[in-house]
Amino acid sequence: MAAAVEVEDLVKTYGTTRALDGVTLQVPQGGVLGLLGPNGAGKTTTVRVLTTLLRPDSGRASVLGIDVLKDPDKLRRIIGVAGQYAAVDELLTGRENLVLVGKLYHLPKAEITRRADELLERFELTAAASRVVKGYSGGMRRRLDLAASLVNRPQVLFLDEPTTGLDPRSRLRLWEVIEDLVRDGTTLLLTTQYLEEADRLADRIAVIDTGKVIAEGTSDELKDRVGGSVVVVRPANSADGDRAFAALSTVGEPVRGASGDLTLPATTGVTLVTEAARVLEEAGIAISELALRRPTLDDVFLTLTGHAAEQAEEQSA
Ligand SMILES: Nc1ncnc2c1ncn2[C@@H]1O[C@H](COP(=O)(O)OP(=O)(O)OP(=O)(O)O)[C@@H](O)[C@H]1O
Ligand SMILES: [Mg+2]
Repeated sequence: MAAAVEVEDLVKTYGTTRALDGVTLQVPQGGVLGLLGPNGAGKTTTVRVLTTLLRPDSGRASVLGIDVLKDPDKLRRIIGVAGQYAAVDELLTGRENLVLVGKLYHLPKAEITRRADELLERFELTAAASRVVKGYSGGMRRRLDLAASLVNRPQVLFLDEPTTGLDPRSRLRLWEVIEDLVRDGTTLLLTTQYLEEADRLADRIAVIDTGKVIAEGTSDELKDRVGGSVVVVRPANSADGDRAFAALSTVGEPVRGASGDLTLPATTGVTLVTEAARVLEEAGIAISELALRRPTLDDVFLTLTGHAAEQAEEQSA
């Protein structure tokens, strides 16, 4: 399968910040790549380069064989992008927003009307179509933004954190819509901070941290890098975190999770559970949870970067 999106060694700096520090990735035709990373990892910057909104300092990128830097106008006609911040006009109605996009693409008037109706229906916005966007909920704005990105029937779609800030139900609904698009053959590059989202929607996942892709593979391949299973320890008293960390360091390599949990890649399987229990008891640390489980993508991130995705958010804030 020919790659629909090819990115090679992209570098973009802002002052001393290397927003992109040599990003290389591919998305096969009809495939879904999840670009997974915490705040400030370089996800939006990557998407902006690929959608012609930003010139990198160096590196190459092409979409469906079209060079992003050499032929931006041609590229814009065949891609769609829905951003982290919904780019819809607050003062227009839902329908007017879609019509505006159709006009920007110079679509025939009848086609615009047909396409707008179809998309409003698909995104369950028909009833709200004549209301100004100002009164829309966050979920409605996201759906409208996604609808707007589809007006030109893009073959390649870029979605930058499509469900960030949505409640679980709205998120689930949006996932279903995205899955429909993929089933129809759209190539998708999706950025997300949600491990669960990448796991559900993407065929392959590229983990990005501080402007670099630090791992790439299927969800299962990434999970295997953690070692098949992990031991999770939750101290009963959160003040015992440091002592628990020290105790567990004698039997493995613990990493701190966002919720105060400590996880240990379980290279020795069940044996590690008993060892962990022993060293914690010897240190006099009460625990409320001790379990062996299949690693989540969160564990993968922790193992790869040494910090939790959620913690990075605080650091960069
Ligand atoms: N216009 C800009 N000026 C200065 N620094 C920037 C600019 N845009 C991005 N950066 C910096 O580049 C880095 C990558 O930013 P980017 O927006 O790509 O991250 P992200 O992965 O999309 O994060 P988030 O999950 O918060 O959206 C960050 O350190 C950010 O502060
Ligand atoms: Mg972003």
